[in-house]
Amino acid sequence: MNYSNFSKNVLNWYNLNKRDLPWRYKGNSKKDPYKVWVSEIMLQQTTVTAVIPYYNKFIKRWPNIKKLSSTNIEDVLDFWSGLGYYRRARNLHLTAGIINNEFNGVFPNKESEIKNLPGIGEYTSAAIRAIAFNKNDTVVDSNIERIMARVFYLKDPINKIKKKIKEYAKMLTPNRKNGDYIQALMDIGSMICLPKNPLCESCPIIKFCQAKKSSSENIIPIKIKKKIKPIRKGSVYLIISSDNKVLLKRREDNGILPGMLEFPSYGWSKDGSEEIDKKILSIDDFKRKKGSVSHQFSHFNLLLTVYEKKEFNVNDINGMWIDKKDLENLGLPTLMKKVFNHVNI
Ligand code: ADE
Repeated sequence: MNYSNFSKNVLNWYNLNKRDLPWRYKGNSKKDPYKVWVSEIMLQQTTVTAVIPYYNKFIKRWPNIKKLSSTNIEDVLDFWSGLGYYRRARNLHLTAGIINNEFNGVFPNKESEIKNLPGIGEYTSAAIRAIAFNKNDTVVDSNIERIMARVFYLKDPINKIKKKIKEYAKMLTPNRKNGDYIQALMDIGSMICLPKNPLCESCPIIKFCQAKKSSSENIIPIKIKKKIKPIRKGSVYLIISSDNKVLLKRREDNGILPGMLEFPSYGWSKDGSEEIDKKILSIDDFKRKKGSVSHQFSHFNLLLTVYEKKEFNVNDINGMWIDKKDLENLGLPTLMKKVFNHVNI
């Protein structure tokens, strides 16, 4: 098979069909590596649809590296609630500081320099270099993996052939317009080369697709079932005062949900040091709420039993007593929002 027209077909298709995403350049607007970087970090573990409103708000609030580096980390963490994987927010803030101090505020474009920045690994470095600087790094995300597996009819389980897939992807990577090319493949992967029932009739690279030729587009790529995540269990305490204040505490700086606000919770977060607060646990007439709150983390699923105590005397426990009506604007992590909704107070 001669692949010399592969990238040309992909790029032509992109010109006519690309998704209108806010981090993409329009017309003659200048490429801004800061925006590419922010979008790529957000897109690491979050879908395009979920990222769009957060991206727009983020750029409005912190339009450049200088603004981001001079803001308070607490503000970035609060902003991040709802997106999850808070380490990304910490790394964005850290990296903004490094670029401001060590690179004069100018985003570096050398691979060795980019990869040294917190939160940027092989994939993100390649994506930033391709999209912001048009370097011909090979970029392979899960959409592009699927396309490569189908184009080259790779019949081994996809997680066993990552290296091979990257070699194929490298072979096809164009020397020019690589930023558009990889974003085109991402779009083809999410709009046409779908995991199930791909829309092959609309595909600009159908003639290169060996899986299609063998009518195997629904079988390739082969996936091995993921391991089931372990379940952790714990408890969370909603303590409400007679004047409608709720007790909050800030989590440890390391571990899960580092530095985030929470209703006091215990027994689930193995990585964090969880001092059991004897005072809280000694309250004897907590009401156990029916059911439990479940939440998925990257490495485990969580089940929290919720306990509630109303009409509490605020003088009995020192801590952050927050007006119930102010909770909404505090940037509680999604898990804690679920807890709040569970009791429906
Ligand atoms: N996923 C990761 N990076 C992306 C991008 N630039 N466009 C669309 N989806 C993406």
